[in-house]
Parts: sequence; C-alpha cells; structure tokens
Amino acid sequence: MRGGGITQNGVLCLDFGTAFAKAAYCHFDDSAHAHPIALEIGSQGHADNKFLIPSEVFIGNETLYIGARARQHLLEEDFGMRESLRSFKTILSARDLEAILESKLPPKYDPGRTLTYRAVFVLNLAYLMSLARQSIRQLYPDAYERIREFRYVFPHWVESEHDTRLRLISELFVAAFAISDQEDEDILNGALPIERVPEMLATGPGSPHLEQSRTVGAVFEPAAALFAYFPDGIPEGVDAVVSLDIGAGTTDLAGFRIDHPSSTFELIPGTCRSISVAGDALDAAVINMIVEDSRLSLTPARKKVAWKRLSAIVRELKKTLLADTFLELRFGRQDVRFKSDDLYDQVDFKSAVSEMKTAVWSVLDRIRAETRTAKHISVFVAGGGANYPFLNDLVLKTMHAGKPHAVERLRHEFPAWGNAGSEDMFLQLSTAVGGAGVGPKLVTRFHGSPV
Ligand SMILES: Nc1ncnc2c1ncn2[C@@H]1O[C@H](COP(=O)(O)OP(=O)(O)OP(=O)(O)O)[C@@H](O)[C@H]1O
Ligand SMILES: [Mg+2]
Repeated sequence: MRGGGITQNGVLCLDFGTAFAKAAYCHFDDSAHAHPIALEIGSQGHADNKFLIPSEVFIGNETLYIGARARQHLLEEDFGMRESLRSFKTILSARDLEAILESKLPPKYDPGRTLTYRAVFVLNLAYLMSLARQSIRQLYPDAYERIREFRYVFPHWVESEHDTRLRLISELFVAAFAISDQEDEDILNGALPIERVPEMLATGPGSPHLEQSRTVGAVFEPAAALFAYFPDGIPEGVDAVVSLDIGAGTTDLAGFRIDHPSSTFELIPGTCRSISVAGDALDAAVINMIVEDSRLSLTPARKKVAWKRLSAIVRELKKTLLADTFLELRFGRQDVRFKSDDLYDQVDFKSAVSEMKTAVWSVLDRIRAETRTAKHISVFVAGGGANYPFLNDLVLKTMHAGKPHAVERLRHEFPAWGNAGSEDMFLQLSTAVGGAGVGPKLVTRFHGSPV
C-alpha cells in the first residue's frame, strides 16, 4: 500500500489529545477507497515514542519549546516554580473559549506575560503540521502540497457552544497553516526564540499554499475510532454500537445506529457522554497498588521517588502484568510480586471502572429508547487508556441481566494496515487514523480560506 499510486488529494488529521498529539494521513486509491496511516511524528519530533508528541509547551527564558523539547528543557534546567503548559484539549474544552484565547498565560507558565493562549495554540499546531509534513514527505514526496482537507478530532462538547468552538479551533488551524507553510527551521525544531513570536504570528496570507483554499474538518472522536477499526463497515448482525474512547483524561462515549446492508453508521441523538475518568486514573491505580503495598512500607520521600520512576514505565508494567498475569519488581533488596487480580481489588480501580460502566449503561438505555428495533448492541473500546483487556469484560459484566437486547463486545481484528505496528499502539492512534479516513458524512466542515 505504501508508495502506491496516489490518485486524489489527501487528508491530514491531527488529534491533539490531553497527553499526546497524534497524526494520520489518508490517501485514496483509484476507486476512492480510503487508505489512512498513522504518521511517525514522534520520530520527527525526537520523542520517546515514534507516533506520539507530548502535548506540552514550555516557555523558557528566551525560547519557546514545544513537544518533547518542552519536557527535556523542563527536566534539564532549574526553572524554579515554572511549569509547562499541558492538556491543551482541556483548555479548548473550557467555557467561553473565545475570551480564553485572547487572555495572557498565567505567570507560572510565562513570567514575562507576553504570550496569549491563542499564540501558544497556533504555534503548537504549526509545529504538529510541520512534523506531519516531514513524515508525509518521507512516504510520498509531493503529497503534502496536495492536501486539501486538514482535520482534527474532537470529544463531546456542551451542545450550546459546539459550533462556536469548532469555528474557533478551525481559525487556529488557518493561522497555523500560514506559519507551517513557511517551513521555518525554528518551528520544525520545536524551539522558537520568543522575540520571533510576534513576527511569526503576523504571517498572513501570501503563502503560496494558503492562496489555494483549504478546508478544515472536525470529526467526533468515537466515530473516528470506530471507523479506524471497521473501515469497510460494521459486521452484519450488529444493529447499534456504543463506542468508548478512553484517553488520558477523559472517556468519551457515543451510540451509533448501524445501517445494513450498507453497514454505515450514524450518531444516535442524546447518546454522547464524557466522563473525567480515563487512562491516567487507571494507570494511577496500578502505580498506587505497588507503592502502597504494605510489604514495602516506603517512607513518604521514597514513595514520591517510586511514583516518578514507575510513571515513566507504566506502559511496560501494564504489558507485563496483563500478559503474564503477574509482575515482579525489586525495591532495594526486596522482591515483590503482584497479580493482575490484585488490581481488580484496588478501590480506585474499581470506582473508575464502575463510573465507566454507569456511563455505558446510560448510553445503552438511550439507544434502546431511540432504536426499538435494535436487537444486537455491541460495545467497542479504543484509546490509549483502553489497554486493559479485562476492562471490556468488567464493563460488560451483568449487562445482559434483565435486558431485552443482547449486548456484547464488538470483536475485531487488529488492523495491520494502519502502520501502528502493535495493537496497543493502534488503540491509541485509532482516533487520528479514523479521523483521516472517515467519509464526508461524518465530518463537520469549515472553509479554511483566510479571506
Ligand atoms: N509511555 C506511554 N506512552 C503512551 N501512552 C501511554 C504511555 N503510558 C501509558 N499510556 C496510556 O495511554 C493513555 C493516553 O491515551 P491517549 O493518547 O489516547 O490519550 P489522549 O488522547 O492524550 O487523551 P484524551 O483523549 O483524554 O484527550 C495514558 O493515560 C496511558 O493509559
Ligand atoms: Mg484522545
């Protein structure tokens, strides 16, 4: 598939998640069939993971650092109480976004108080676009210039502000095109002298690529994830699907009606939910289980160190715990062993799962109310926080009891075509990959022309 003939203009999709940004590119073959692939923007941005760029901006004394560079600088030098700005998605989801974008960053991020949230978001987006451009060029030399639609994926937002929010974010994209199209080395390196910021942001129309109109499109995250796993449609016999995207900070859910024989899907009104329990909370329960183990009796100071060290390797810890069903760790001269069952007994873990369960149930009730003919409803789980195989079973347990419709986990193969390399990575990349590949019916469009 790679390097094959590109016959139509492509689509680039960015997912600026709470913890990590991801990107995917989609090209279409002769029969307009979508071929989305995850882009290795992490490699381009010298991050730890080849697909992931930390959602982070650090404003140093003279330089603004983005992504992995932000993390490095914060760790390398002593900046006192200064913090890096993270969780852009949470800020973009806040009420009255328009006012927030125009306000200056608080001193803990920017002691000189020179930068607005808008400036930081635009530069971050321009950086991500630049990394995506480099990744695409390595695969298909002239494809970036032929991209006509830039997309982003969005979580569930309060209905009343929905359209305004999408419009504001699309405007940030348009400003970011102008910067990214200049192919400026400082932007590409994720290290921009602060004195250059006003000049960068003043970049207006005039860039050759910006002259051609581009479209900005927005795709609902649960729909994007579902498409990534089922690009050719949902299997026969499934009437409705609850899609759960377990990210770092939020879990987004939505119910879709499946139309057969076309096997296309459509959002069911009133079935969108967002809860603030996700991967970070589940990971915290894993670390807590280890640190608070009574056999270790760590001092508060050592607990703090252990949290930090274990957080850096939590992905590996989970893999071992889940694959081998046990985990052995050495603390000083003491060996400790944990079983995956121990995790189910953790209070925090149980309450996180129970909150997810309640949310799934309420979506199921709504689907039942809306689609009286739906006999088979499936639950589908994606997102970087979904790397707990047993989560599916916990969420679904007892769901059959007394219910008129069958509910089961939507079985799927790990799609090798997305370039993700492994199933746990694909879960995390599926929103970006699916966002790039979905058909026009699932995209809210904005005209990206600067005029
Ligand atoms: N080293 C790691 N690299 C990447 N992901 C990790 C790592 N360790 C753990 N994860 C898991 O991935 C989760 C992040 O998932 P994901 O990238 O889907 O979130 P996000 O899209 O940034 O957040 P959200 O969708 O809530 O905005 C973490 O909470 C964690 O469970
Ligand atoms: Mg996400």
